Amino acid sequence: MDRSDKRRLSVSLIDLSEGHETEFDTISTHFQALLLRKEYGRAELFRDEGSPLRFYSIRYWASASAAEQCHRDAEVQMLTARLYQISRVTHVVNGVRRQDAVRRLLDERRARIEADRRTGFDRRVVNLGRPEGDRRKNDRRLGPRRVRDSAGEVDLVAAARRAREHADAAFSQFRVGAALETGDGTIITGCNIENATYGLTICAERVAMFKALSEGHRVFMRLAIVADTEAPTPPCGACRQVLWEFGGNLEIQLANLQEEKGTHQLKDLLPLPFDARLLERRTL
Ligand code: THU
Repeated sequence: MDRSDKRRLSVSLIDLSEGHETEFDTISTHFQALLLRKEYGRAELFRDEGSPLRFYSIRYWASASAAEQCHRDAEVQMLTARLYQISRVTHVVNGVRRQDAVRRLLDERRARIEADRRTGFDRRVVNLGRPEGDRRKNDRRLGPRRVRDSAGEVDLVAAARRAREHADAAFSQFRVGAALETGDGTIITGCNIENATYGLTICAERVAMFKALSEGHRVFMRLAIVADTEAPTPPCGACRQVLWEFGGNLEIQLANLQEEKGTHQLKDLLPLPFDARLLERRTL
């Protein structure tokens, strides 16, 4: 496999619900045959030796456009929908992201963040400019928008729904899940974790962000938030502040267990923010 092939790997972690082994077998056999038959690429499945219901699914795409087609394929979507009913799927590597653009964005952002770190840093005022142009005029805070890729885009809402299952909400019974997409396509999830002192409770969004930061991620693209309510659950004020500080003008996707409830930009949820720019402008 040459280097360009390696970039077209997608890897998912599948945690199967007990009792669905036979159906899972059928789905994965179908999926593997389908990928070959339609020349999308090939798929391999590995069972985790330490955990019989855990699998790793690797897709080797024939090309970026084959991957795109595969994701749009109705047959594939049916299989995937069924798979989601009997397992939790966590997308670990999204191989069809346009790596060059993402890499460029990452490098530029990283260089900027390192240079400015905590001293007058302002991740939103520098307009790095996308060639195609997607800047919002008159908004100084905005950095570049994320590189959009419909192909193989990770289902962030599904990841947030799965994360919600781990919520520890003994006091409010209000379970929330969040999933944060980093610049390199990694998905980091979080859930709310409550505490008997109430005040030490931490929201799903901050759990996801702090997990990501603690693992070295510094560039963020999107955040999905899921709760089991008819009205969407937007991030609380404290989370907005933290998300802004570390993620800039993130795209925020809100959803409940059944459907998506809208997408917002963090700048609209946190108008007139306080951030490190203002520390630099204080008069002594
Ligand atoms: N919560 C979140 O995790 N995220 C939100 O966006 C709103 C609220 C949690 C905090 C607490 O555990 C429970 O929901 C009720 O406020």
